[in-house]
Amino acid sequence: MKADLIAPAVAQYVYEHSTKPDALLQELSKETAEVAGGNFAMQISPDQGVFLTMITQMTAPDVVVEVGTFTGYSSLCIARGLSGGRLHCFDVSEEWTSIARRYWAKGGVADRVTLTLGPALETLAAFDQTIDLAFLDADKGNYPGYYELLIARMRPGGLLIADNTLRSGNVADPAHDERTTVEIREFNDLVIEDPRVTVLMLPVADGMTLIRKNP
Ligand SMILES: C[S@@+](CC[C@H](N)C(=O)[O-])C[C@H]1O[C@@H](n2cnc3c(N)ncnc32)[C@H](O)[C@@H]1O
Repeated sequence: MKADLIAPAVAQYVYEHSTKPDALLQELSKETAEVAGGNFAMQISPDQGVFLTMITQMTAPDVVVEVGTFTGYSSLCIARGLSGGRLHCFDVSEEWTSIARRYWAKGGVADRVTLTLGPALETLAAFDQTIDLAFLDADKGNYPGYYELLIARMRPGGLLIADNTLRSGNVADPAHDERTTVEIREFNDLVIEDPRVTVLMLPVADGMTLIRKNP
């Protein structure tokens, strides 16, 4: 579990009292760790997966967009929560998403997922559907661009979830001036200044921000 933001004992307690990943998600994590090496850290954590499934079930979206699919953990969790809607995944990597495709098939959700490959600033710009729910988890420097594209296409009342918005808490410490921390800090400032949305930052995993487009 990614839990830099809470004490290790509390993190363990939270893990023990949250629904565990099933055999398929465990298999996907294991394979990702084997093939992706250090990039395994890009995968969302099990508690985030439960969160994404539950929020999809609760919001019953018709159109969901994910920016940043990697080997498919978050998309599998979202797709499992769908009840008739469709998940549109955007990523630039054929290599990583070929693993995702395999797990969508294994999980019996391939028929509710569309994958578009390419730089997401371009592919999202060509996406012309109204979005009910979005999960943003791609390259951090482009978060502002993705945000504008997603919010413009989101229905009033729709929800955008942005991942890694606390950077292990480093965003709150001015001494941290690494590029990604600065990029996320700027993104967080952009979002809280936007009168179109209501915002809640959750200290879950590496920070997840819930951004609701105001009705
Ligand atoms: C943090 S990982 C996503 C993790 C995924 N949500 C999961 O649960 O496993 C980020 C992904 O963004 C993708 N990405 C990076 N730059 C991109 C770009 N310009 N356009 C589209 N996808 C991009 C990478 O290929 C990578 O798969």
